[in-house]
Amino acid sequence: MKKIISVVGARPNFVKVAPIHRAFLKKSELFDHRIIHTGQHYDATMSDAFFTDLEMPQPSWFLGVGSGSHAEQSARVMVGFEKVCLEHQPDYIIVVGDVNSTVACALTSVKMGITTAHVESGLRSYDRAMPEEINRMATDAIVDHLFVTEESGRVNLLREGASPDRIFFVGNTMIDSLLNAVPAANNSTILKRLSATPKEYVLVTLHRPSNVDIPEQLQMLTRVLENVAQSTPIIFPVHPRTRKMLAEIGFAPSKNITIIDPVGYIDFLCLMKNSKVVLTDSGGIQEETTALGVACVTARTSTERPSTIELGTNILVQPTEKGILAGIRESLAGRSRSASVPPLWDGNAADRIVDVVARHYS
Ligand code: UD1
Ligand code: UDP
Repeated sequence: MKKIISVVGARPNFVKVAPIHRAFLKKSELFDHRIIHTGQHYDATMSDAFFTDLEMPQPSWFLGVGSGSHAEQSARVMVGFEKVCLEHQPDYIIVVGDVNSTVACALTSVKMGITTAHVESGLRSYDRAMPEEINRMATDAIVDHLFVTEESGRVNLLREGASPDRIFFVGNTMIDSLLNAVPAANNSTILKRLSATPKEYVLVTLHRPSNVDIPEQLQMLTRVLENVAQSTPIIFPVHPRTRKMLAEIGFAPSKNITIIDPVGYIDFLCLMKNSKVVLTDSGGIQEETTALGVACVTARTSTERPSTIELGTNILVQPTEKGILAGIRESLAGRSRSASVPPLWDGNAADRIVDVVARHYS
């Protein structure tokens, strides 16, 4: 029996790991799979809600690291995670995505000589000002198995010199979660609770430091929202980082803008599926809108997920007033966009990951 641990810490990690846990359960005669939660995200709306919505078991360990500077947070994760590894003696560690918990646990486990895998490997924005880009590059440079969601990931890793036998193009576990949860999302009551009409609102999420930590930039974004809200209602579930900054700039939204706390995964899926347009700077939401065929406007200078633009429904707009407004207007006008789903985003990515791990030990 091989002991596997998957690491979760922040909101998008839960969505990526839930299907991996389910896939390991199907091979429980071979694997003892457990989840560790670093506690990077800790609000009920950013963490607990996901375990219920994604039908994930409670984590076997909770490190409770909380917020802090990058160094403080990563250091606390490393110290706590090392203790767990020393006690539990896992054979294989899985880290997902690009958050601080990802790189901190990868660094810890690789140095302890534990076979380590990165799920969602190879994505690159080529913008080193993004903390996530550093996390992605550092993780991919050291782990053993590189599980790739889209073709660009494979190409980037090969360009960086990764040997092809470390790279496994398996698809996207975030889309495994999405396809699994669509029936539940269809039964969500969130639209009724918010008095929203399908296909008549714009859904907004913003949390990148480059957009929300600079008061002038955030002020500009609120002007954009007010402008759009003159014609189309806006629903804006606000990330805690953004909530703090909106309070600092004293944003008082007009009545066509519904500001709410972050919502659970099933409700959010329902909101995305029924929105006319999504405005975001999220990584995962670019992928989910592509899988759902919903128009997405990404307010960033770059994306690490080019397949959502080349194949999917995403457009990248300069994060300026003019750029974002033009993108939203074009999307609201419903100009047709190619809407195919990238290869292997078919709901079976986690099974492919487990097959690779099983082959590794056979
Ligand atoms: C983190 C990830 C980012 C990811 C995002 C997903 C890093 C460097 N960044 O960004 O890649 O896209 O999660 O949502 O790992 N806070 C709360 N409650 C919480 C969590 C955070 O109030 O449960 C507040 C704290 O003030 C904290 C701030 O949000 O300082 C930022 O949290 P942090 O985890 O450092 O980064 P995120 O912006 O959430
Ligand atoms: N999400 C959610 N509720 C919300 C906002 C987002 O469930 O209020 C989900 C979303 O569907 C996706 C994940 O959270 O699965 C994306 O997380 P986030 O945008 O915070 O992180 P990123 O993907 O940018 O790292």
